[in-house]
Amino acid sequence: MDKFIIEGRYALSGEVSISGAKNAVLPIMAASLLWPDRYVLHNVPCLHDTLTMARLMEIIGARVVFEHNRMEIDTTTCNNPEAPYEMVKTMRASFYVLGPLAGRFGRCRVSLPGGCNWGPRPVDLHLMAMKTLGADITLDGGYIIAKGRLKGGAINFDTSSVGATGNALMAAVLAEGETVLTNAAREPEITGLARFLQKMGARIDGIGTTTLHVTGQKELHGTEEEIIPDRIEAATFLIAGAMAGDKVKINGAREDHLTALLGNLEAAGVVLKRSDEVIEVSRPSTLQPVDMTTAPYPGYPTDLQAQWIAFMTQAEGSSVVRDEIYLDRFAHVPELARLGARIRLEGNTATVEGPTELIGAPVMSTDIRASASLVLAALVARGTSEISRVYHLDRGYETIEKKFAGLGARIERVAEDYLVQKG
Ligand code: UD1
Repeated sequence: MDKFIIEGRYALSGEVSISGAKNAVLPIMAASLLWPDRYVLHNVPCLHDTLTMARLMEIIGARVVFEHNRMEIDTTTCNNPEAPYEMVKTMRASFYVLGPLAGRFGRCRVSLPGGCNWGPRPVDLHLMAMKTLGADITLDGGYIIAKGRLKGGAINFDTSSVGATGNALMAAVLAEGETVLTNAAREPEITGLARFLQKMGARIDGIGTTTLHVTGQKELHGTEEEIIPDRIEAATFLIAGAMAGDKVKINGAREDHLTALLGNLEAAGVVLKRSDEVIEVSRPSTLQPVDMTTAPYPGYPTDLQAQWIAFMTQAEGSSVVRDEIYLDRFAHVPELARLGARIRLEGNTATVEGPTELIGAPVMSTDIRASASLVLAALVARGTSEISRVYHLDRGYETIEKKFAGLGARIERVAEDYLVQKG
């Protein structure tokens, strides 16, 4: 395991390029399991999570070649419709193979993910969707067994769920007849998945809205796709620029995917120079506190809640940050407090008192975005911070330390020393 050593208070300037979106490529990789053929994906980020999904697909029998952000997938050799616990427990998104495997094989065995650092994270909506499409679902030894050929149906989600929408959509494209998904998620990653499925020959209407109509097809085919830039990575660099930037240019920041964040940054007094997929950001002389509540897209993403809390420690006054998607997703709060942040946590609401002069300290990563918030805080803290367990960051940010170093940050990756010297 590695850790980052960050010496704070160096201004960031220059350009950074955003990688392909983790949450877009994972369901797209899973979708290629739907039909035996060859697929080529471009702009695939080299992350622990993309490698985990590639490994899972190999267990299922696919051939995957991944070089220089280009991934070739051959799903003609798939013969084992199963996602083992060892894979699913390391990455919940492995559950995305449920819909494609049920659609293609009419039977599959996929481990239940279990809880995580953000709370219980159930999969009831995924299972409800599969049952509505006619799958016989049973639980055996911690595994979901889905059996039966799928038939179209009316699937209504009482909560907007990215994963359940993705799984249901993938299952529906090969189901016999019409499927209608209502209150479907419309995050750009779901729109990206729907467009990829269309390129495979699926018939989907209503893309980009909360109602999706799918007409089941008898056949699909292989295709090629360019993965959209990662809006959460772009947003993390935008917030970094707003905290410590002296003209930071972010290439691959799609305004249309970042509306809620950009509005909040401007409300905080940050001036953004926007042009086609490039946004320039600097730290203003004073930052205003801005309250924020997470919501499904196009609302403010829960995946940016931790970074907003780090940002608000630098604002002139107090702000209230509420997470309505994941009520327990606040493991970063006590770690930020170790750097001197003043945050009161009550239920799903954090009240941040700013401005705070943060002071470097050893802190620990707990999940991908919590870790990103610690990096942001360390970049503006006086002195040196050590962030341990950065494998969380490696799950979701491609070479984040190199990108920050390229902007002038003092950040170094070192191997954690587990040897305790005996006295
Ligand atoms: C995806 C993202 C994750 C992001 C989240 C919300 C991927 C790989 N991960 O996760 O980074 O934080 O969307 O934008 O894309 N829920 C249920 N039952 C279910 C499924 C979900 O109650 O069966 C609830 C969840 O507990 C949560 C809400 O629905 O409160 C939204 O979760 P969901 O959109 O499903 O998150 P993921 O797809 O797991």
